Amino acid sequence: MKLKLLVTAGDGIGPEVTNEAVQVLELVASLSSLELELDHKRIGGIAIVQDGTPLPGETLDAALASDAVLLGAVGGNEFNAMAPDKRPEAGLLAIRAALGGFANLRPAFAFKELAVNSPLRPEIIDGADIMFVRELLGGLYFGQPRAWNKEKNEAFNTMRYTKDEVVRVARVAFQLAQKRRKKLTSVDKANVLETSQLWRAAVIEVAAEFPDVTLEHQYVDAMAMHLMNRPRDFDVVLTENLFGDILSDESGVITGSLGMLPSATVGGKINLYEPIHGSAPDIAGKGLANPMGAILTAALVLRHSANMEKEAAAIEAAVRKLLEEGYRTPDLVRGKDHGYTVLSTTEVGAKVREKVKQLLS
Ligand code: NAD
Ligand code: IPM
Ligand code: MN
Repeated sequence: MKLKLLVTAGDGIGPEVTNEAVQVLELVASLSSLELELDHKRIGGIAIVQDGTPLPGETLDAALASDAVLLGAVGGNEFNAMAPDKRPEAGLLAIRAALGGFANLRPAFAFKELAVNSPLRPEIIDGADIMFVRELLGGLYFGQPRAWNKEKNEAFNTMRYTKDEVVRVARVAFQLAQKRRKKLTSVDKANVLETSQLWRAAVIEVAAEFPDVTLEHQYVDAMAMHLMNRPRDFDVVLTENLFGDILSDESGVITGSLGMLPSATVGGKINLYEPIHGSAPDIAGKGLANPMGAILTAALVLRHSANMEKEAAAIEAAVRKLLEEGYRTPDLVRGKDHGYTVLSTTEVGAKVREKVKQLLS
């Protein structure tokens, strides 16, 4: 298996966590038939500083010539005053659009070992296993027109969806539900928004193709509460772009930390892989970042772009093993001290590699 992977590490903790994810992939390549061809390019704030744009042409060309893209995170406080189309985040949105993946899979899995580290009670989260399917190329993020009219002291964005955009992402979600616990929760705000009414109608139509999957609808406000009260009740959760952005960060509470959550974006020409957290400027450069979300994202690269289920599962098992043995990053240590060994970013990476090696050789 040959895999041409473009790595765009980005800003803040992006390079720190991506470095660990890449080293895990290199180890897997050394232990398997995977021929990994790596390329590294700039995106985000670092690209603004060095190339004058958040998505340099060279990065875009390399992305389009690759089999998959692994992204760290973009953004930094020094860019916060910039207009949306000039900021580091604009580079991320542009690469998402160019690669074409519209279904962003964000699994939120409650590792048993982390139950005591979550602010939710263990009996609430024990066994929670949710797959968010977030629509990634529509809604408020891309809708036109949009503007901040400073003379008029007015600003607006456009939330727009076509039926086709909903149908294609809904099919991905139903197909996933068929392979899981056969339940799909579609999230909307159909009591207020026309886009949500179209969303709900389209999802109901698609549901007819999947009679074995049970469909339910939840309003996004209520869903934010249900997720914390009864996370185990959800299997696949389908959302539009902004609702999925918000609810998937919220699910970081179920899993113990935002730093645990991976993602894979599929459906387009080239898959894009990124942990769901941001550049975390508050902890960047200190070795405090949890690289497990990025490392679990590497597992998704192997699962979805290399058809290497055994190796993907080995990475996930390695992370679990490390947690079982009481190793933690600082973001996971909360509440009672259970005698954890707190590790730095690079130490976690090394431990994961040690365990992957044991599992695969
Ligand atoms: P963030 O996700 O960077 O951080 C939120 C909180 O979670 C912070 O306290 C941070 O320290 C903590 N955190 C996040 N990831 C962690 C990890 N791996 N280990 C330990 N702790 C972690 O969100 P933010 O602070 O709201 O945004 C910072 C910047 O990141 C902004 O510029 C934002 O636009 C950008 N951002 C980028 C992406 C991306 O590139 N995919 C995603 C989200 C946010
Ligand atoms: C995410 C991020 C991005 C998003 C930003 C940085 C554009 O928050 O991947 O969750 O909103 O999609
Ligand atoms: Mn987000």
